[in-house]
Amino acid sequence: MSGFKVAVAGATGNVGREMLSILAERRFPVSEVVALASSRSIGKEVSFGDRTLKCKALENYDFSDTDICLMSAGGSVSKDFSPKIGAKGCVVIDNSSAWRMDPDVPLIVPEVNADAARGFVSKYIIANPNCSTAQLVVALKPLHDRARIRRVVVATYQSVSGAGKEATDELFAQSKAVFQADEIVPKKFPKRIAFNVIPHIDVFMEDGTTKEEWKMLVETKKILDPKIRLTATCVRVPVFIGHSEAVNIEFEQPITADEARDILRTAPGCLVIDSREPGGYVTPYEAAGEDATYISRIREDATVENGLSLWVVSDNLRKGAALNAVQIAEVLARDHLRAAAPRRRFAG
Ligand SMILES: NC(=O)c1ccc[n+]([C@@H]2O[C@H](COP(=O)([O-])OP(=O)(O)OC[C@H]3O[C@@H](n4cnc5c(N)ncnc54)[C@H](OP(=O)(O)O)[C@@H]3O)[C@@H](O)[C@H]2O)c1
Repeated sequence: MSGFKVAVAGATGNVGREMLSILAERRFPVSEVVALASSRSIGKEVSFGDRTLKCKALENYDFSDTDICLMSAGGSVSKDFSPKIGAKGCVVIDNSSAWRMDPDVPLIVPEVNADAARGFVSKYIIANPNCSTAQLVVALKPLHDRARIRRVVVATYQSVSGAGKEATDELFAQSKAVFQADEIVPKKFPKRIAFNVIPHIDVFMEDGTTKEEWKMLVETKKILDPKIRLTATCVRVPVFIGHSEAVNIEFEQPITADEARDILRTAPGCLVIDSREPGGYVTPYEAAGEDATYISRIREDATVENGLSLWVVSDNLRKGAALNAVQIAEVLARDHLRAAAPRRRFAG
């Protein structure tokens, strides 16, 4: 079987593990899959479908015969390694924020701007957006096509897995400590996260917004339309997996809630669950492990001209990271790269 040699860098992390399982689930055409992490993890085992791979060290790995590297090892690792990997002719699909705003690096959500992937040739790097941006633009794109979005006001409710595996462990440990009446000392988050919410994600910017909020603005402009104005409030909540967003949109042209519901029902990547009764909407608990961007609570906002409000939920480790990266790899495999003859199958 011909296929691509794919490396997953950051294979022991939240996103890397999900990338391996999605590559297997979607039967991405691989000739070989290599799991990479830091030198601390050499020999550590991770699953790829029903196989087990042993991790190798990213720093010692030679990428010259690897076609695609799905990178989820953080921004500083990506800044250092991605250009070197790209120079070997291996296309990096990076999950960190290191390359997203580089004008020579396409920032891709396949449902929205798959065509821009061809720009990978400048640096052999493609960026995956921030998890909150990915699900937002999947929901906005079909509505923008219909009625042109002028302004978006969004509040996010982001799960702890978006901050990595240490953050996931911190919610678990703090929740246990609350029940055992033990002392809670926040480490990964600036305040206690168990049974609390924290209106602060990433660093503060000079104007009082946070970098997470800024990312939602600039990434939405780059992926969807530079004319869209957007203001965000990003909040961490004690949910393990699944980001939720309360989204208010002002359009240039009129659009009703019924029209929006019909458009979203057939839009790629979207799933509408919206009956106006208790439980007739999606929560992150139900979205975890799923691929769709769920849209609920679609209603008109009469306080502005042509206004709509929505509730958008998705699995941040999947559409927000690993699934989107694998979908980008599928675009490359379909339109831009040629699969080589079989090599050794499945390193490990
Ligand atoms: N979680 C999300 O929802 C989400 C969404 C979008 C983007 N992202 C981005 O994806 C990246 C990974 O996130 P995550 O949540 O998976 O983090 P994580 O669970 O903390 O995992 C980090 C991974 O990076 C590896 N790593 C760390 N330093 C390394 C080095 N020097 N060389 C090679 N590998 C190294 C770790 O390997 P060891 O186990 O060996 O340390 C681990 O596999 C981040 O850039 C994050 O911003 C995450």
